[in-house]
Amino acid sequence: MSRFLDALAGKPVDATPVWFMRQAGRYLPEYRAIREKHSFLTMVKTPEIAAEITLQPIRRFGLDAAVIYSDLLPPLQTMGLGLHFEKGVGPVIENPINTPKDVDMLATPPAGETMMYTPEAIKLVKAELDPLGIPVLGFAGAPFTLAAYAIEGGGSKKYEKTRVFMYTEPAAWRRLMDKLVTVAGSFLTEQAKAGAGALQVFDSWAGALSRYDYERYAAPYTAKLIAIAQKTGLPVVHFTTGTAGHLDAIAAAGGDVIGVDSGPSLKEAYERTGGKPLQGNLDPYLLQAPWRELKAQTDRVLAEAPKTGYVFNTGHGLVPATPPDAVARLTDYVREQTSA
Ligand code: CP3
Repeated sequence: MSRFLDALAGKPVDATPVWFMRQAGRYLPEYRAIREKHSFLTMVKTPEIAAEITLQPIRRFGLDAAVIYSDLLPPLQTMGLGLHFEKGVGPVIENPINTPKDVDMLATPPAGETMMYTPEAIKLVKAELDPLGIPVLGFAGAPFTLAAYAIEGGGSKKYEKTRVFMYTEPAAWRRLMDKLVTVAGSFLTEQAKAGAGALQVFDSWAGALSRYDYERYAAPYTAKLIAIAQKTGLPVVHFTTGTAGHLDAIAAAGGDVIGVDSGPSLKEAYERTGGKPLQGNLDPYLLQAPWRELKAQTDRVLAEAPKTGYVFNTGHGLVPATPPDAVARLTDYVREQTSA
């Protein structure tokens, strides 16, 4: 067993495991060198490239888990939504969902027919990491976050269209969410079959909803997706942001481990989730702060964290301005501070 998987299972470990959301990405010069030559989606869909990028931060920092290089949105493409990445804008859905008919047009192909590039990349990563005992995480977006992107067509601050759609077309909303559960569930299952050591469900935008709306319009579908993921036998991390006030509802929707953003203290999160294993929750911008502040806040996070059943991570993904040296120093510091 690995330190990471032991911590996910709530077992004691010799040092707190460390990995970072979006640890494979644009803050690394060796990543940017590859990125210059290929589009983002080409990189995601070429197993050799995706595997190489997944391994870059492991080689550099000696982290306790790899996260497969991919994104939340490629599954939407397999359903019939046109997706491209625009420089300076981000991902754009060319034909966003506006009407119930648009929902009915969406396909739900099995991932085995459309998205095997990611499971193939997982196999390549495993060939290198299995001898080191480092697991690779597979992941998928939660239905709400995927639906919001499919309806807004791009980034959004308030998710106005999404919320108006779910209030106005509740039956079409249910059909949309069920389709997303099918597609994301199939994708997670294929990643498990390829040998992922754990699965993470990202509901990055769950915080847009009130508790009432979350419980009514999002949680039942997240629960279905997590149940499918757990059928593989792998531990499932349920990550959300902006949900400090209803982490109990998040925990109730499922997951063996709760991924916590930087909002609440881990002490609060532990209480609200009924003592589930936790992952989080250092503010990722702290990696751009002077060491005294980064160190002080790391000490604080470690002091607030549960003693067992805990994985150190940031509260959200690392950003492109992150200095790689800060990631190295922080990783070493957490290991040193928590070594038995
Ligand atoms: O931890 C991980 O690495 C998991 C993979 C992951 C990525 N993005 C990798 C990525 C996950 C879970 C995400 C989240 C994501 N991606 C969301 C949810 C909101 C959030 O931030 O959690 C959404 C809406 C997306 C779609 C998306 N993909 C956006 C908005 C962007 C940024 C576009 C830009 O130009 O700034 C991406 C690109 C992306 N996703 C990159 C990576 C490593 C960078 C790719 C590149 O341009 O090199």
